[in-house]
Amino acid sequence: MNVDGKTVLITGSTDGVGRYVARRLAASGAKVLIHGRDAARAKQLADEVKREGHAEPVFYQADLSSLDGARRLAQSVLAENDRLDIFISNAGIGSQTQGTERRTSADGHELRFAVNYLAGFLLAHLLLPLLKASAPSRIVNVASLGQHPLDFDDVMLARSYSGGRAYAQSKLAQIMFTIDLAHELKGSGVTVNALHPATYMNTTMVREGGITPISTVEQGGEAILHLAVGDDVAGNSGLFFNGMQEAQANSQAYDEAARKRLRALSLEITGLSAVG
Ligand SMILES: NC(=O)c1ccc[n+]([C@@H]2O[C@H](COP(=O)([O-])OP(=O)(O)OC[C@H]3O[C@@H](n4cnc5c(N)ncnc54)[C@H](OP(=O)(O)O)[C@@H]3O)[C@@H](O)[C@H]2O)c1
Repeated sequence: MNVDGKTVLITGSTDGVGRYVARRLAASGAKVLIHGRDAARAKQLADEVKREGHAEPVFYQADLSSLDGARRLAQSVLAENDRLDIFISNAGIGSQTQGTERRTSADGHELRFAVNYLAGFLLAHLLLPLLKASAPSRIVNVASLGQHPLDFDDVMLARSYSGGRAYAQSKLAQIMFTIDLAHELKGSGVTVNALHPATYMNTTMVREGGITPISTVEQGGEAILHLAVGDDVAGNSGLFFNGMQEAQANSQAYDEAARKRLRALSLEITGLSAVG
């Protein structure tokens, strides 16, 4: 896909693999909407892109550990842009971000589930009218190979918390949502796919987990770009990729009843069911 003149939103692009993807898309001529919590890190990226002679990215500041933060981000993007061709839902926290204790979001939900899954679920739905109006358009959900089935009796892991499980269930939830949304969007011109970008890239999330990186940010970034702009995946939807290759996700992703349950729960939590 030629991204010249296209508008792309990448959440979590002030750091890590999102930052790499933002730079590459800006260099290809896209109007890049970057997002994160830290204005100084965003300015550094914007200055870098400008110095390289490309259009300066537009920064959106929002904390996705609150549903209100996600709502405000969507409202600003919708108010200030007349098109949105690609939405890359990439912001996330690792299994040990902020420690090994169970933490909750501003709304009282388990933190990894809230930041890694619920915020992206809500954002995608709120941005859909603009994505549809800009079709053909794409949504890319940056998930992981780390996947754990959801226990619908304890989705917030109040009883059996571990950071690894919390991270992995949030990542599987993203993939289940991807498959579900692809069905919903059939015929709309909007496609949605999910991926594991690369294993243990050299990013903040991996380093703060005490893990020795084994992949580069470039490797994962190129896999994200493949789903975002690759011609060979145009029209494909509802798929999970491991890097550049289509792959199977955890079996719960293909369990229609589980996806239906997750969808109902997510619509209720995010308040989307109330607005239809
Ligand atoms: N690293 C890996 O090996 C790996 C493997 C598989 C999947 N992934 C996935 O790839 C994605 C990017 O990860 P990364 O490794 O690039 O991580 P990273 O370097 O830690 O970057 C995370 C990004 O998400 C943003 N973010 C975190 N919490 C946020 C919040 N509450 N509100 C808003 N923004 C928030 C951060 O913004 P700030 O700058 O404000 O902190 C940052 O821009 C994640 O979804 C991750 O699960 C990574």
